[in-house]
Amino acid sequence: MANLTPTPADKFTFGLWTVGWQARDPFGDATRDPIDPVESVHRLAELGAYGVTFHDDDLIPFGSSPAEREKAIARFKVALDETGMKVPMATTNTFTHPVFKDGAFTSSVPEIRRYALAKIIRNIDLAAELGAHTYVFWGGREGTEIDGGKDIRVALDRYKDGFDLLCQYVIDKGYGIRFAIEPKPNEPRGDILLPTIGHALAFINSLEHSEMVGLNPETGHEQMAGMNFVQGIAQALWHGKLFHIDLNGQHGAKYDQDLVFGHGDLLSAFHLVDLLESSGYDGPRHFDYKPMRTEDLSGVWASAASNMRTYLLLKERAAAFRADPEVQAAWLASGSEGLAAPTLAAGETYLDLPDPDSVDVEALAARGYGYVTTDQLAIEHLLGAR
Ligand code: GCO
Ligand code: MN
Ligand code: MN
Repeated sequence: MANLTPTPADKFTFGLWTVGWQARDPFGDATRDPIDPVESVHRLAELGAYGVTFHDDDLIPFGSSPAEREKAIARFKVALDETGMKVPMATTNTFTHPVFKDGAFTSSVPEIRRYALAKIIRNIDLAAELGAHTYVFWGGREGTEIDGGKDIRVALDRYKDGFDLLCQYVIDKGYGIRFAIEPKPNEPRGDILLPTIGHALAFINSLEHSEMVGLNPETGHEQMAGMNFVQGIAQALWHGKLFHIDLNGQHGAKYDQDLVFGHGDLLSAFHLVDLLESSGYDGPRHFDYKPMRTEDLSGVWASAASNMRTYLLLKERAAAFRADPEVQAAWLASGSEGLAAPTLAAGETYLDLPDPDSVDVEALAARGYGYVTTDQLAIEHLLGAR
């Protein structure tokens, strides 16, 4: 069995808002006390994490005075220095305050859009100072509950304006920061703009500096939309747009559960780890989960550790799967070499395609692909039976 003790080399990171979630939900009050971000940095470092991420308001409570702001940042920096923890990513809270109830980038009120961009810029400056390379945008309030209230095409114009302005800001400042959009289909809005990986990829292509903008897909968000997360991540990688990733667990299409990674669709998590580890993705393995509302403080730290241990277990199982000669034989049997071969051979053109009437279609159709063998092998590796 591989080493299951996380180390910074594994690049595991956590949002301050994850372990710090007080478990307030639409039906009930908080079940846990707040955790000082300094405490989270120390505890996560002890557990073997590489770094932490934050929304501006997680670190600097909304409405802080300039002096309070400086103090919060200074204490955080001391904790980072003491532990060696990194801040590879930061993001902005453009969803909690009522001012954002109808969106930030896509609010119909220009003053609100201008305020949101200024709030984002202030935190981009801090992110750059702390050495972050990625800045995430989750537009939870950019959306609607009704179809007739707002022209979505115009709202998308304003969304684009915002990204174009922020890209220009980062270029002018010379910050080595790239942007990552985090899609989500709904919650808190009835329907959120840029609901899936595919929608976000298409939007990114329309931006002035599309090369600076990629994705931060989240397991549960794609699964809420009924999408296949492994396939979505594969396509994001194919476009060179997997800038960051939010790992967690979800049981199908329902509210955003934000469970521990692997504690939802485990077979999907297994193939996801296999994909990340075999694709050369070298970004953080970022957990965006919520310790369940039923847990006390010890459950918070146990759940943080569970994310990392589950990832390492799946990494070990996925490597064994990939190295298994029977798996490799199953891939060959289902046509991996044929898939890798270009459809036209070198020098051929469409003129070399066959006369359709000359093709023995029935013979081609008779072929079996044997995918059930591959799937059973995956299950057996996952269950430790091989
Ligand atoms: C959610 C989102 C958020 C974002 C975070 C970073 O559904 O609540 O996943 O947790 O990831 O706001 O932008
Ligand atoms: Mn989520
Ligand atoms: Mn997320």
